[in-house]
Amino acid sequence: MAEATTTVAPGPRARVQAMKEYHPPLGSREAMRLDFNENTLECSPKVRETLAQISAGALTRYPEREPVEAIVAAHLGLRAEQVALTNGVDEAIHVLFETFLEADNELLLPVPTYTMYEVYASATDARVVAVQAGDDLQFPFDRLAAAIGPRTKVIAIANPNSPSGSVATRAQLLELARRAPQAVLLVDEAYFHFHGETLIDLVGTLPNLFVARTFSKAYGLAGLRLGLLAGPEELMRWVRRVLSPYSVNSLALACLPPALEDAPYLDWYVGEVLAARAEFEAALDAAGVRRWPSRANFILVEIGAQHAEFVRRMRAAGVLVRDRSSDPGCDGRVRITIGTREQMRQAVAALNEALAALRAEGGK
Ligand SMILES: Cc1ncc(COP(=O)(O)O)c(C=O)c1O
Repeated sequence: MAEATTTVAPGPRARVQAMKEYHPPLGSREAMRLDFNENTLECSPKVRETLAQISAGALTRYPEREPVEAIVAAHLGLRAEQVALTNGVDEAIHVLFETFLEADNELLLPVPTYTMYEVYASATDARVVAVQAGDDLQFPFDRLAAAIGPRTKVIAIANPNSPSGSVATRAQLLELARRAPQAVLLVDEAYFHFHGETLIDLVGTLPNLFVARTFSKAYGLAGLRLGLLAGPEELMRWVRRVLSPYSVNSLALACLPPALEDAPYLDWYVGEVLAARAEFEAALDAAGVRRWPSRANFILVEIGAQHAEFVRRMRAAGVLVRDRSSDPGCDGRVRITIGTREQMRQAVAALNEALAALRAEGGK
């Protein structure tokens, strides 16, 4: 007898079916890239040299992450057991959530914030508890602390936050960790270099603190996909069970030591961005554009109802910026990455022209 065939296709979990699709607008980016908070120039020349020396034979081997984890841990003043390299901070978020979030758990986070926290929470069966920031987009500490409950299992804080650029203080973060001993506190320091304040020195001291760092921003290695997660050794053991041993590729691993060694390059780039940020803030003020104070390499600005047309006009002028209107509480707001002073002067010219055109249109 012929075997029975079925026409029913396998279906994903209900939670996955409910997930929104997330398509970052990465197409056609041959312009000035002020849209993804990347390094807008290039990585360190020492990294470039290392890449050029990688042989075809070296690519035949599986990547070995432990020696490089020891190097990066020493660089951060931590022990190797406290640090895991990841395929960008995105993978760090993913594995941390997979390690700790169960069906009746809650992920607590302030919004607006980095989109991928909710995306990866959706990949678990946990509930997301989002605490809306006020109009000033400052870190909503009091309401966040009040939302901590027995089901709170992960608290995710981007510090500095995106898209607002706002920061939580060390005292506020310590207080959250203290008030939620049953939860892990993830402090995502993707933009650390532009802010200068960190909790990494407390890793291993606080029993529930994890800190994430990326090489995608100041270091200029977004294409290599390299991040790290640091936390207490006992908890990192569980995280490592979930983490793929091969998710950080050998090119990224080879490039990490020279990236860390080239402090002069990093200092130069960060210094350039900070100088450009100050100039850009002054230009926004002169143009009468509302902005939110930022400690990162981007600034959120208020454009209003014509936000989509503004982004289109900037693109036509060769400058890519990111419309954040669909973020909670961000209608009419656009995020602009800070590059070098020279780049930002071009961006200011484009911005002033775009605003003049929009005002003329609005006044018709
Ligand atoms: C707060 C925050 N965390 C993490 C990331 C992603 O970092 P990575 O490229 O290392 O995955 C971003 C990227 O925009 C971010 O804004």
